[in-house]
Amino acid sequence: MYNDKVMEIFKNPKNVGELKGANGIGTVGNESCGDIMKLYLKINDKEVIENATFKTFGCAAAIVSSSVATEMIKGKTVEEALELENEAIIDFLGGLPDNKIHCSILAKEAITEAVKDYRKKQAKLAKKAAKEGVKAQTKPAVKEANKTKEKPVKEVKEDKTNKMAKINDATKKMEETKKRLSLFAKREKKTK
Ligand code: FES
Repeated sequence: MYNDKVMEIFKNPKNVGELKGANGIGTVGNESCGDIMKLYLKINDKEVIENATFKTFGCAAAIVSSSVATEMIKGKTVEEALELENEAIIDFLGGLPDNKIHCSILAKEAITEAVKDYRKKQAKLAKKAAKEGVKAQTKPAVKEANKTKEKPVKEVKEDKTNKMAKINDATKKMEETKKRLSLFAKREKKTK
């Protein structure tokens, strides 16, 4: 049923298992056969797929297609990975039986789903970052607004007390000057 290449990869598939730190995960299934494929992608900030692994519960062709697909998209950009057609997987394998073509399609669909998941997560992160950015921008404004806020009651009371003391001092001095002036006037009268 399968050619040697398919059997060889089936016996020794690459990139099997979960991927820690994966930021794009796609799960797809085929209703008619019941096979399920889960693809894990680790995509860096330049949108390059640094690593790709899979977990497939299905036939030999599904496992082999997953293995080949992960090998083909590693080191590629997300956009390049999306361009991968299942025919490329079939060509690489030297062909698949007609009733197993859909297994290679499943691998392509898994890539699409994993990228969708990645984009969704990125959008969420961007939203969060934008929110925090707004907060960071408003912080200095709040600080500035606080500067111009009314003085605390204690400070206002202290200010008033100081002003009153100054007024009292000035009044005292005026009184003393008045007294001296009247004394001076009295002496002047006597000497005349
Ligand atoms: Fe369905 Fe292979 S038989 S994925």
